[in-house]
Amino acid sequence: MEGQGRLGLVFFLSVFVLLFLSQCLNSAEEDESSLKLELIHRHAHPQLNSRLKTQLERVKELHHNDMIRQNMIVHKRRLTQTPPENRGTVRGDNAGIGMQIYSASDFGLGQYFASFNVGTPSQKFTLVVDTGSDLTWMNCRYRCGERCRENARINQRPVFRADLSSSFRPVPCLSRMCKVELSNLFSLNACPTPHTPCGFDFRYVDGSGALGFFANETVSVDLTDGRMTTLHGVLVGCSDSFKGDNFDKGADGVLGLANGKYSFTTKATQYFGGKFSYCLVDHLSPKNVTNYLVFGSSKKETSHMGRTRHTKLELNLIPPFYAVNVVGISVGKIMVNVPVMAWDATQGGGMILDSGMSLTLLSKPAYMPVMFALEASLTKYERVKLDGVPMEYCFNSTGFDKTAVPKLVFHFVDGARFEPFVKSYIIDVAVGVKCLGIVSGIWPASSVIGNIMQQNHLWEFDLVGKKLGFTRSTCS
Ligand SMILES: *[C@@H]1O[C@H](CO)[C@@H](O)[C@H](O)[C@H]1NC(C)=O
Ligand SMILES: *[C@@H]1O[C@H](CO)[C@@H](O)[C@H](O)[C@H]1NC(C)=O
Ligand SMILES: *[C@@H]1O[C@H](CO)[C@@H](O)[C@H](O)[C@H]1NC(C)=O
Repeated sequence: MEGQGRLGLVFFLSVFVLLFLSQCLNSAEEDESSLKLELIHRHAHPQLNSRLKTQLERVKELHHNDMIRQNMIVHKRRLTQTPPENRGTVRGDNAGIGMQIYSASDFGLGQYFASFNVGTPSQKFTLVVDTGSDLTWMNCRYRCGERCRENARINQRPVFRADLSSSFRPVPCLSRMCKVELSNLFSLNACPTPHTPCGFDFRYVDGSGALGFFANETVSVDLTDGRMTTLHGVLVGCSDSFKGDNFDKGADGVLGLANGKYSFTTKATQYFGGKFSYCLVDHLSPKNVTNYLVFGSSKKETSHMGRTRHTKLELNLIPPFYAVNVVGISVGKIMVNVPVMAWDATQGGGMILDSGMSLTLLSKPAYMPVMFALEASLTKYERVKLDGVPMEYCFNSTGFDKTAVPKLVFHFVDGARFEPFVKSYIIDVAVGVKCLGIVSGIWPASSVIGNIMQQNHLWEFDLVGKKLGFTRSTCS
């Protein structure tokens, strides 16, 4: 009896200790703060919104940017497929080709912007948020004396005054960092004196580009608990000139969120755990509804609707992009007949998730059968042709019943399924007109799940666990 009582007590105590421990762990997790950036959609941006009046004009603009971006993805891919020992020669012999990887079309094409505080004391900038860029850079002035003050603005926008920051540390051109580590980010070989900063030169396909040098800087960020903190040793590009005029007039630079060694994602995930997540509200939402990007746990940031699904996040398949293994797309429960190569990155296909591209793009072999399956359900609506609209299938949406539309589902290799909302693939384009929001890519090329398809879902990128989680969400 006595033994049993003692055992009971031990059992009771163990349960108590376990409960207590799990309580502690839970609260530790809850105390853990995360970094949060508010994202502004391009069409909610005060300086960019004013000139676009109709929804149709907006869609056209989104598509224009998407097309340039697709070229960039294809070029990047070509370059990543070049054997590493050839990369140097490619760059040296034909700067144009080498530059395309990174640079070129990246700039100014994102649909979302974020505020970014750089330096000590910090100076505030608006950057294009880009999951396809490795480097964070902004317009910048350094050691230019009087001229710095005279040229303190570009396009009426602020410029980073590096001399006024006590934490600004140029990367010397003689360093291994410059010569080896940053060669993928187009560091220059020129090194007139050991202390000359390590330069970079990005070129657009059309000949425009950004010039500047690399530096380590301190960045101030907002935490989810309302506090602020600083991240040290963040690699930034100080761009002192931009040739050509295609850089986004609404932004001061680019926030590089790709999976590169020196990207902001890689830095921020070191501080806040190996995860980042974002939730994008409907792209037609009122301006005061915000999207956000969080590094660390996003638990408290959003309300979930339904359970979270997971699929493997492929970080080395189509670098520096975030790739997923799709095995099929079904329309109305019927698997569409798409050749497997379209989903296979090793055969020229594959699928990436991109926050910077708005429409969803399917490479040619996937596009045709998927569109065919979707169109079949829309034949009762009068087809409409709109000039300058990239989408092939548009219709008069009078009497449109979204419940009659067959479900579009992305099936992943590990059994997870992504079921976007109907409004994310049958999108409003003009008054009374909707279009299938999918465009055709070339072949070979990776397909892209664009940000409209991703809307109203919380996306969590676990870079350590190599998992992508997604859940329906209001993002509020
Ligand atoms: C910049 O930071 C990197 C690592 O974050 C470090 O290795 C390097 O020495 C730093 N360079 C300078 C010039 O501060
Ligand atoms: C956004 O603004 C509208 C009015 O323009 C208002 O009715 C709504 O409550 C606001 N929403 C938020 C989240 O502030
Ligand atoms: C759509 O159809 C309705 C009625 O059939 C018509 O009144 C309207 O003008 C049409 N809209 C477009 C954009 O064609």
